[in-house]
Amino acid sequence: MTESTVGTPDPGLFEVMYSCRAMRRLDTRPVAEELLVKLIDAANQAASGGNRQRGRWIVVRDPARKKAIAELNHAVSADFVRARIEREEQLPHHDASTRSRMLDAVLYLAEHMHSYPALIVACLEFDERPDDIAAGGGSIWPGVQNLLLAARALGLGAVPTTYAINRREEFEAIIGLPETMAAYTLIPVGWPLGRFGPVTRRRTSEIMRFDHWA
Ligand SMILES: Cc1cc2nc3c(=O)[nH]c(=O)nc-3n(C[C@H](O)[C@H](O)[C@H](O)COP(=O)(O)O)c2cc1C
Repeated sequence: MTESTVGTPDPGLFEVMYSCRAMRRLDTRPVAEELLVKLIDAANQAASGGNRQRGRWIVVRDPARKKAIAELNHAVSADFVRARIEREEQLPHHDASTRSRMLDAVLYLAEHMHSYPALIVACLEFDERPDDIAAGGGSIWPGVQNLLLAARALGLGAVPTTYAINRREEFEAIIGLPETMAAYTLIPVGWPLGRFGPVTRRRTSEIMRFDHWA
């Protein structure tokens, strides 16, 4: 970057950030291995605490493993959707139609996950079995966001999910994780069936303050 371009936004990057929706309806067509590797390469450029680079990425393409993961996700998604339908106040920031579109998409993902071309598992590797898995999570999410933005830039759909991972032991057995590794999110990836468009977020004035909050 030259001095004259400092502070000049790159419209491409901003367009990608502002339209990087959770894409849950994906095509079953394969995604070239080269593109999958590109996503992981982008994830690998992200920051990590002390630059320790403990992120590890498993791209699951094997039909039997995808089916087993999809079954776990299905079981947990069904509970999630039932709870949200029964208790609307759990998604108070959505109006009724947005809420129902999201729940439909969650169910669609649950029904079709096994047929998607790749399920990417974002993991961290530790020196020894961690006592508190969640505590290390900060060093995986920057990579996850890089991966999501790279997918959007390539026209691929993706969504970070955690339902299946809630059943941790069963999930980690499917992908053969050693005790020193932990999974943080499962990202189905494929060519989108829906369209990319602007994300819906709170206004910036609601979520920021200068200098102090109150
Ligand atoms: C930590 C985390 C966990 C998530 N878990 C799930 C999940 O288990 N299933 C799912 O369908 N979406 C999951 N999502 C996706 C969010 O629901 C989605 O990013 C959010 O609704 C915004 O969607 P939008 O970008 O399309 O507006 C998760 C997102 C994050 C950041």
